[in-house]
Amino acid sequence: MSDKPVFVTKPDLPPLEEFIPYLEKIWETSILTNGGPFHKQLEKALCDYLQVDHIALFANGTLALMTALKALKVSGEVITTPYSFVATTHALLWNGLTPVFVDIDPDTLNLDAKKLETAITPTTAAIMPVHCYGNPCDVSAIKEIADKYNLQVIYDAAHAFGVRDQGGSILRHGDLSILSFHATKVFNTLEGGAIICPDAETKQRVDHLKNFGIVDQLTVVAAGINGKMNEICAAFGLLQLENVDDAIASRRKVDEMYRELLRGIPGIQCIELSDRASANYSYFPILVDENYVLSRDGLYDRLKQNNILARRYFYPLISEYPMYSRLPSSKTENLAVSLRVSEQVLCLPIYSALTDVECREVAGIVAEEGQRLR
Ligand SMILES: Cc1ncc(COP(=O)(O)O)c(C=O)c1O
Repeated sequence: MSDKPVFVTKPDLPPLEEFIPYLEKIWETSILTNGGPFHKQLEKALCDYLQVDHIALFANGTLALMTALKALKVSGEVITTPYSFVATTHALLWNGLTPVFVDIDPDTLNLDAKKLETAITPTTAAIMPVHCYGNPCDVSAIKEIADKYNLQVIYDAAHAFGVRDQGGSILRHGDLSILSFHATKVFNTLEGGAIICPDAETKQRVDHLKNFGIVDQLTVVAAGINGKMNEICAAFGLLQLENVDDAIASRRKVDEMYRELLRGIPGIQCIELSDRASANYSYFPILVDENYVLSRDGLYDRLKQNNILARRYFYPLISEYPMYSRLPSSKTENLAVSLRVSEQVLCLPIYSALTDVECREVAGIVAEEGQRLR
């Protein structure tokens, strides 16, 4: 048993001494926020790294989501997934929008594009899919339906930093995509987020909205919000970006090791990575079904007894929380796959500093239990 808890994730931190010169610069200039020099540099560096043309940084991913919906003037119903972090749909409620849940695909765990059309009504305005665990949605099927019904598409790409498909960044799809740079994400700026914009005009609109709608000292063009990223987070992000490829490579090793060690355990299924896109190994979800010796919660508890703190992402479903449970689309018969997956899923620890020994210990407990007679 580990003497120190092994959490589901552990943030990457740059060497402290490398961060000090950035702080000295901030102290020297006294520019702390409002689109300062590090903010500008990070936007440029991220455009280069992610291979996108326009990015607007935010204080966090939730504000980015809320602002994206405002920027597109979405009103009415928005089709989305119940299998996500609550921020996805909370951003809809904060904009006075009505979430309409559609079930997920059993393989990708993303919004099932085949079920989208039946959820469209005359008041449907947009679709907000999530690239869950960084696995890309069926972007072409979603685009086809969105074009047919004239719907806007906002991707919650909070998990999908750096993911690329054959055509380039996964973030280029839809009208807008948002990222989260929260401490638990593959690339973190302590707290942070971004909107990926298709053109300079949209970026300008978003930039105004994230700064109270202010254009200049005398002009306010919209009821904006304060969504700005500060200089300390932006500087931190610049340093993090230097190490993000190494961090993803280390995560990849953990992912490969788990897949190897968990192969063939009855009742344990590792979620397949997409063969049409690169992966960022942001999570390691497994499904625990009735062929395993313990229930999902039994395995969760067993790991916890060994100081291994796996997480049930995403359980409960968003549609089960009180502010959503009365929606017609929250009915269990509408969300059979999502419900099953949320009752079976367990995310195992994965982060760049997870050692081989720790990874073997986690997998070893899952395997050892699996070998016990039912
Ligand atoms: C799918 C998803 N959407 C949105 C968010 C919100 O991002 P933030 O925590 O940066 O506000 C998160 C994570 O935190 C997330 O996992």
